[in-house]
Amino acid sequence: MDFSIKTADKKNTLPTIRTDCIAVGIYENSSLSSAAKALDTGKAITAALKSGDISGKAGSSLLLHNIKGVNAPRVLLVGLGKNEIIAEKDFAVVSRTLAQAFSSLGAKNALIALPLENIKDRPVEWAISSILFAAGEKAYRSDVMKSKKEDAVTGVRKVAFYLPGTKATAARSAIARAQAITKGVNLAKDLGNLPANVCTPTYLGEQAKKLAATYKFNVQILDRKQLQSLKMNSFLSVARGSDEPPKFIVLRHNGGKAKEAPVVLVGKGLTFDSGGISLKPGAGMDEMKYDMCGAASVLGTFAAIGEMKLRQNVIGVIPSCENMPSGHANKPGDIVTSMSGQTIEILNTDAEGRLILCDALTYVERFKPDAVIDIATLTGACVVALGHHNSGLFTRDDEVHNQLAADLLAAGKASGDTAWRMPIEDVYQEQLKSNFADMANIGGQPAGSVTAACFLERFTRKYTWAHFDIAGTAWKSGAAKGATGRPVPLLCTWLFDREK
Ligand code: BES
Ligand code: MN
Ligand code: ZN
Repeated sequence: MDFSIKTADKKNTLPTIRTDCIAVGIYENSSLSSAAKALDTGKAITAALKSGDISGKAGSSLLLHNIKGVNAPRVLLVGLGKNEIIAEKDFAVVSRTLAQAFSSLGAKNALIALPLENIKDRPVEWAISSILFAAGEKAYRSDVMKSKKEDAVTGVRKVAFYLPGTKATAARSAIARAQAITKGVNLAKDLGNLPANVCTPTYLGEQAKKLAATYKFNVQILDRKQLQSLKMNSFLSVARGSDEPPKFIVLRHNGGKAKEAPVVLVGKGLTFDSGGISLKPGAGMDEMKYDMCGAASVLGTFAAIGEMKLRQNVIGVIPSCENMPSGHANKPGDIVTSMSGQTIEILNTDAEGRLILCDALTYVERFKPDAVIDIATLTGACVVALGHHNSGLFTRDDEVHNQLAADLLAAGKASGDTAWRMPIEDVYQEQLKSNFADMANIGGQPAGSVTAACFLERFTRKYTWAHFDIAGTAWKSGAAKGATGRPVPLLCTWLFDREK
């Protein structure tokens, strides 16, 4: 879909504009938005409301044809809810209604003349991205592996936002941002949805190279030998159980000043997690192809960064391998020495994410980062704690980290890709005690997502750090099975807003 701005001025009055469809708002008490009033000279809209065919509830809609005195052949009435100041969550519903309606119309182009400046506590830019995200969601198809492609979205191809000239610049930049984010989300979805026999660590490396070629990133892909010289024995211990060679991807976008400390994004890239010798149960194990969604979110975010030509230094780091049972695999009780020198007793080979991340988190010290953010489908316990609505956000509890957490949470709210903060505290660290090594890789049943974060925390003491557990948010199960592309919108919004 193509988006543009149409300036609301005397030359472009709503009744005279030539477009296939104009969307205007109405409210639950049967009152009309100013755009609806402008098209109601023949009282056709008032009559439609009287008929009871549309309630005005947020997300309700009704299509009218050939209104007298209006050049556009279709007027789409869209319910905006009770109040002229529209609640954020009501407008999210409105956005989905628009995306749905536009996809099923015979119209080729449309004009959105909704009161986008009237969302509670949110600017016009927010409303625009909400609509673009909903349109992107509607248009996404997971048919890469199907021999016959699913039907593409038909209907409206070109959408213009009807806005006062004073809002045009902000609106244009909101469109560019939302389009970049949608590109990133779609890439993350595609990579997540690919099966593990296609999307291997080598494949992820190829994707990183492709991104680097498109957007002029610097890319480096370390292989097993180089990882051995770096002493990433914890990562390598997981990789050893599989015939697929591990890869360690480093992507660099140098958009800022040479001396500016970079933001580093670290993504868990388990292209399949069988559990290893601590084998997972069979039911639903196919979903462990999604155990690389952290990595996919880093690559997706980089696509968006490239699209936006972000003026910051950002480094993406992806440790990638499979977790498989074999004669070379980790065994419960094995002890490995991580790159940091700390030793780890592997009491459960299925807690492998932290084993590959800890070495990546040590590796990134060399970048003297401004902040490091890791993104990982780390624990089933996080799904128990937060379900599928919020990603888990973990940081230490001090001034710098509380500010970082607040900024990340705000970016999540602003983009509709929310997270909820969870604790990191020394009391939980005690659960990781081992009789034989510096730590165990599991902390028992209670607070499983917290002890996993506490494990990672031990490798991040040299920089500012945040951890996202996206086990509940990265993909959907059941009939709607598919990757969500989260938390690309959150990460992009946070990064883009740092520049303001
Ligand atoms: N990739 C899984 C976490 C996961 C499980 C994400 C289910 C989404 C849905 C991770 O590697 C894992 O297996 N974690 C274990 C940790 C446990 C052994 C301490 C878990 O959550 O069961
Ligand atoms: Mn696992
Ligand atoms: Zn895993």
